[in-house]
Amino acid sequence: MLPFLIAPSILSANFAFLGQEVDKVIQAGADLIHFDVMDNHYVPNLTIGPLVCKSLVDYGVSKPIDVHLMVEPVDQMIESFASAGANRISFHPEATRHVDRSLQLITDNGCEAGLVINPATSLDCLEHVMDKLDFVLLMSVNPGFGGQQFIPHTLDKIRLVKQRIQESGKQIRIEIDGGVKVDNIRSIAEAGADTFVAGSAIFNQPDYKHVIDQMRAELSK
Ligand code: DX5
Ligand code: ZN
Repeated sequence: MLPFLIAPSILSANFAFLGQEVDKVIQAGADLIHFDVMDNHYVPNLTIGPLVCKSLVDYGVSKPIDVHLMVEPVDQMIESFASAGANRISFHPEATRHVDRSLQLITDNGCEAGLVINPATSLDCLEHVMDKLDFVLLMSVNPGFGGQQFIPHTLDKIRLVKQRIQESGKQIRIEIDGGVKVDNIRSIAEAGADTFVAGSAIFNQPDYKHVIDQMRAELSK
């Protein structure tokens, strides 16, 4: 089994102190820094771009940066984020004309590649690209905002993705994004996920380490 990774989403951090927020969450035990990029086009919200990613890299972030692109089109942003120092990049298949090409572009730029599946998106888009994937990012909320409720049928989808990965014989991570909390992380892991994005659950609490410790305790039960 792949080791569990906890990926705090800086969408819920205080942007006035972003470097310090990232330092704090890494000291609290984060494995990845989840970086949500929204363009007010693919999703109805606007966040941060490659410039902010580069600033964090130059500032000295010691954990991999996990860029979740909610933008359309995607290819230019893949190149910009790779140049800015991102380590993992994922995008939504609806947002690009050529999914295979966009995945290849991520790999060619030296990053790990992921495809993001929305709550109402079928898993069929995975079928012909399994050999190009390092991870599948399953949305457990509709993309665009932090602080939403986990959609329960995602658990069935995780099991289906897990089955497909096992059949493929590849080592592909399953990352879950949206509404992940201390009280549901165990059931998400039991369904087959190994990477957990959590924004509001961590950043809306005063003690990030306490939340991450509680998550790890649930995962090791
Ligand atoms: C939503 C983003 C998520 C979001 C998760 O579109 O992709 O990463 O920050 O936030 P929480 O954990 O608060 O649901
Ligand atoms: Zn995200």
